[in-house]
Amino acid sequence: MGCSVAIIMDGNGRWATARGLDVNAGHAEGGATLRRTVESALDLRVSELTVYAFSTENWRRSADEVHGIMELFVDILAREVPDLAREGVKMRFIGRRSGLSERVLDQMQWAESSTTSGDRLTLVIAFNYGGRAEIVDAVRAAAAEHGIDALTEELVSEHMYASDLSEPDLIIRTGGDQRISNFLVWQGAYSELVFTQVLWPDFSFDTLADALREYASRERRFGGRVGDER
Ligand code: FPP
Repeated sequence: MGCSVAIIMDGNGRWATARGLDVNAGHAEGGATLRRTVESALDLRVSELTVYAFSTENWRRSADEVHGIMELFVDILAREVPDLAREGVKMRFIGRRSGLSERVLDQMQWAESSTTSGDRLTLVIAFNYGGRAEIVDAVRAAAAEHGIDALTEELVSEHMYASDLSEPDLIIRTGGDQRISNFLVWQGAYSELVFTQVLWPDFSFDTLADALREYASRERRFGGRVGDER
């Protein structure tokens, strides 16, 4: 079973500014980088790749930028899903559906249903995603089903947006900041973290390979002692 990797794709804005381009040109380049990164992940035998494409906080950006990201999302899916399906990639989306347009929701539905047989890599796109919101949604659903006093970590986990997926072994953040920014706060409790200065549009096969090497060199104990791994 390959590694489960999650990526906070940060730095599109700075990449664009450095070139005198509009921020949406940075996101477009970021989209192309995401497509290439799927190929890198396949080559490096990653089994799950979860990317943070739009957070619940990103609605605060200008209407123009938000619109640009929505359009890019729909365009990338329309263009890439048939190819991804042929390559054995299964697509999933996590995040709140409310607030997204019918067009975006339809495209997600189509991408998921066109790729159900993918068995090489699961690509999870976090869109309108917030980790705390996910925990609130999961706790509410679990409490409605089982009653508040019966709740356990397992029951809450079972009500996350995609509870059949594995927790990330490794979370990578590009763009130089060293924080989680509300990404996979429940599932990432034991994840190894790798931060890189590389801006997302410059992320390459080598950046991913380096992060995986760094991950492989670390010792994971899950709170236990050496020799007592989970
Ligand atoms: C962060 O860069 C990136 C985002 C908020 C959007 C991420 C979107 C993509 C990578 C491409 C689109 C992919 C899909 C599937 C829609 P930033 O603008 O915060 O960078 P900055 O910190 O340099 O300003």
